[in-house]
Amino acid sequence: MDNIKFESGRLFILDQTRLPNEEIYIEMKSLEGCFEAIKKLMVRGAPAIGIFAGYSLALFHGNNIEKAKEYLDSARPTAVNLTYATTRILKAYKSGKSLIDEAIAIHDEDIEMCRKISEYGLSLLHDGDGILTHCNAGELATSKYGTGLGPLILGKEKGYDFHVFSDETRPLLQGARLTSYELEKRGIDVTLICDNMASLMMKKGLINAVLVGCDRVAANGDVANKIGTSGVAILAKHYGIPFYVLGPYSTVDFDTPTGDDIVIEERDANEIKTMFYEKPMALPETKCFNPAFDVTDHSLITAIITDKGIVYPPFEKNLREHLK
Ligand code: MRU
Repeated sequence: MDNIKFESGRLFILDQTRLPNEEIYIEMKSLEGCFEAIKKLMVRGAPAIGIFAGYSLALFHGNNIEKAKEYLDSARPTAVNLTYATTRILKAYKSGKSLIDEAIAIHDEDIEMCRKISEYGLSLLHDGDGILTHCNAGELATSKYGTGLGPLILGKEKGYDFHVFSDETRPLLQGARLTSYELEKRGIDVTLICDNMASLMMKKGLINAVLVGCDRVAANGDVANKIGTSGVAILAKHYGIPFYVLGPYSTVDFDTPTGDDIVIEERDANEIKTMFYEKPMALPETKCFNPAFDVTDHSLITAIITDKGIVYPPFEKNLREHLK
């Protein structure tokens, strides 16, 4: 499933806001169009945003690349992958290298990283396991395989049968619209549940592990990921279920000491009140708070799995040793 296509010098994205009902590719033609595509979640998921931002800046930087970079970076502040990719393109520009080659390298490297993350993740699972996931950290959110869903997709290729429970993931329903869609397409057994059902599934003994992606890992192992994930981590700790965070090594940001230092994107209230309803589900004057991410405390995380291996607590020490 190609969420981002670069063909004969032209950039296309699969519009994820139209899934699962319509599979429509849109050609990107301007920096403003790319900014909007990120902002509106037509392309989303931390690694995919990075890949897309690399191509966007390489193709449409105009005559002021620093300003264009700053503009793109402001589209979604939480995930580190966006600035990671645009910083690489800027560096390539300053050293006179081909920007498109750099964007393609970022894309190719992500495929390789996702494959390795998936292999490490799969080594922790068993055939027949029940897996809970939140949001979407599969191929739509990355390049291939995914991070949080990667072990499941790779496992399917190797003959494993998993039973996946996908939280619907309020308010933007990435679990319902995207995770269940892509796992169905892969022939992986998936059951969609509401976010508030996770505790019941765990209590019933149906969940052997929780797998999620990540948007930024702080130096102490606190992790920003999709809103609601920290609640799932608290439940997993309560029931003694391993909670695994999966992402490329570049998601670990040693310049961010703890989760308190991560900037959390806040989104429009209409995503809660009107977006997926025929009629508004709250009065126009009702106040809403709509943060896109929350921070999972490092004490709730069993292991952080990157393309370089599996890191266990204490994260402050082990992340540095592991990634140096
Ligand atoms: O707001 P989104 O849909 O971009 O959020 C996606 C997530 O939170 C993912 O879990 C995260 O980006 C990791 S993607 C592999």
